[in-house]
Amino acid sequence: MKLTDTPTASHFVNAGLLDARQLALIEQELSQAETALDGKCPWESARLRSAEAVEAYGAWLYVLARALRPAVVVETGVQNGCSTELILWALHRNRHGQLYSVDSGPTSSDGSHKTAWNATQDGIPGKNIIAGLKERWNLTTGLSRDRLPDLCRKVANVDMFWHDSDHSSENVAFEFATVAPYVTPGGALCMHDFTGQPVGMDAPGYCLAVPDLAPRLRVWRKSPGGPG
Ligand SMILES: C[S@@+](CC[C@H](N)C(=O)[O-])C[C@H]1O[C@@H](n2cnc3c(N)ncnc32)[C@H](O)[C@@H]1O
Repeated sequence: MKLTDTPTASHFVNAGLLDARQLALIEQELSQAETALDGKCPWESARLRSAEAVEAYGAWLYVLARALRPAVVVETGVQNGCSTELILWALHRNRHGQLYSVDSGPTSSDGSHKTAWNATQDGIPGKNIIAGLKERWNLTTGLSRDRLPDLCRKVANVDMFWHDSDHSSENVAFEFATVAPYVTPGGALCMHDFTGQPVGMDAPGYCLAVPDLAPRLRVWRKSPGGPG
């Protein structure tokens, strides 16, 4: 697949996240392997989930993190770490930023969340993420409703948020409402599998930068200068 030919590419460009030339350059990087990182390249993060996952959202998380150059990225839902590794690849190439991930893991599951953790390799979220990329990674184990508020207070500013834990309306609304006050001007919040959950991003100061077209990815952006 060529990212630059997709509708999502047009949305990224139209939203002012980057221009077409920058996108083409970033796309090339996805295939560039690094000897020091097990000879792997970002596209190979597909081994942690699937090629479809990389095409639908993983590659775009990489593009977004390269474009925004975030100091702090927060994500919920790691499992084997496809999204996690692609964000870490971008931070590595930015030479800047930390990723804070929350995953229920096996130990703190209360049995009520909708996405099974037991697809996770050996029950350890992100176990097989490339070791050299983990320097910029901070994993918190627990349900997002228990861990996310403290994590947001700790990091104080969130430049990019990726939701991929329990997609129930209740949990999505909780996560977005928790993170929103900490999002920096120009920052982005995103998710896939959007089926109308109440994200609350219709608040003043936010715009839908990437609407729900195939591939199913939504990105809301906080205005660089506005309220919210
Ligand atoms: C769809 S998987 C994440 C996939 C991952 N982002 C990727 O790209 O491969 C969902 C993960 O969310 C975790 N999870 C489910 N409900 C959760 C909750 N309420 N809080 C935190 N993590 C949760 C599960 O343990 C599972 O590992």
